[in-house]
Amino acid sequence: MTELLATPDAIRYEPDPRGWIGARRSVAEYYAARGASVDPDRVVLTASTSEGYALLFKLLCDAGDDVLVPSPSYPLFEHLANAECVRAAPHQLDFDGRWRLDSDELERVVSPRTKAVVVVSPNNPTGSVLTTDEVRGVADFCVRRGAALICDEVFADYPHRLPHIAQHAHRSNVTASSRSH
Ligand SMILES: Cc1ncc(COP(=O)(O)O)c(C=O)c1O
Repeated sequence: MTELLATPDAIRYEPDPRGWIGARRSVAEYYAARGASVDPDRVVLTASTSEGYALLFKLLCDAGDDVLVPSPSYPLFEHLANAECVRAAPHQLDFDGRWRLDSDELERVVSPRTKAVVVVSPNNPTGSVLTTDEVRGVADFCVRRGAALICDEVFADYPHRLPHIAQHAHRSNVTASSRSH
């Protein structure tokens, strides 16, 4: 420990509001290992998913704008959006033996003030996982509507062999991904 503290790296203090570059590179490597190319310069680390949502809602929305959030899903969306003067408009997931995200439902609830669509995969509390077609459907919707796609993959490491959203979403969208370890 004393040896480690004596190295020049231990006393260097170069804070970056986006998070330490070493950790951001690790995040980029994590995605690269799953086939998604992410520039560490475009990775921002936050202290929690909630802080990530707060920053994204501030970045993407003006007061009174809305974001489409899945239902059923994480009950905090409404509070996180309200705290930024943003409306969380539910897009209903369909159940027919498995929970499905339907692009027609997004078209039904979208408004001229929609700035982003939130998807959660695996979802809480349904445990449902978006298929590649569903990811492509919501990514196309976002391109058509000029909305950002916010992907919450906080539980992505639980099941195996999932399609990663960043692999299928369009590069022109803001794709925000939440991970915690
Ligand atoms: C969908 C979803 N996102 C994020 C979180 C965690 O948020 P935070 O990192 O702010 O604790 C949870 C926790 O249950 C969750 O269900």
